[in-house]
Amino acid sequence: MKIFFIGDIFGKTGRVILAGELEKLKRAYSWDLCIANAENSAGGKGITYDVAREIFEYGVDALTLGNHAWARKEILDCIDSFDGLIRPANYPEGVPGKGRLLIDKNGIRLGVVNLIGRVYMEQPAECPFLTADREISVLKQQCNAILVDFHAEATSEKTALAYYLDGKVSAVVGTHTHVQTADERILKNGTAFITDVGMTGPSEGIIGVERSQIINRFVTGLPARFKPAGGRGCLNAVLITIDDLSGKATNIKRIAEIYDL
Ligand SMILES: [Fe+2]
Ligand SMILES: [Fe+2]
Repeated sequence: MKIFFIGDIFGKTGRVILAGELEKLKRAYSWDLCIANAENSAGGKGITYDVAREIFEYGVDALTLGNHAWARKEILDCIDSFDGLIRPANYPEGVPGKGRLLIDKNGIRLGVVNLIGRVYMEQPAECPFLTADREISVLKQQCNAILVDFHAEATSEKTALAYYLDGKVSAVVGTHTHVQTADERILKNGTAFITDVGMTGPSEGIIGVERSQIINRFVTGLPARFKPAGGRGCLNAVLITIDDLSGKATNIKRIAEIYDL
């Protein structure tokens, strides 16, 4: 099977790119399933009911989240109305939503787990390593192939989880930094890994945000108003090929497109 995983969809720019390009990309790469991180999909922070619906309509099969999951509070009340929308599995007990998902589409079965890191991340979270063990043991009874979106800041934490899960899952893809890393590879026991898939949104801002506001914040230390950047847009993704029988990854291809909008 082929999985197309899209890095953090950022604001309207990210959604406009999906609306205009996703079908063309699907013809080019002919994937079976499309998954995207959507923690920044509404105005650059969080996700709403309407935005989630919109993205699913573009042909995305599952959405993952991260530290901005609850930036738009309405999602707390409606996250469970979307079968394909998950938040980090290692959020504390009692937090709305779920962190694990089984996609079953046209005979293709894929387990998806969303986790959040604990290094340089502010939110309370259980251990991502032990949570991964727990979630994978459940999914392994239902499918051979599992993809983990590890939403984390530190490259070391992401690399450590990938090696920890090597051979237990088909892929570990990092999200959150909005900067695509050039280290995609298949680990020794068959797990595809990239430290960060990158971002799908404004390519001329500072990780998506209007440049002048962020620069001014660094220079003066004063709080800045958050506004998505304009200008051109980018789509960052990976195409992962998995052997259906063994669940091992055989290829990971990094994709970075720029679009004049
Ligand atoms: Fe993000
Ligand atoms: Fe994030």
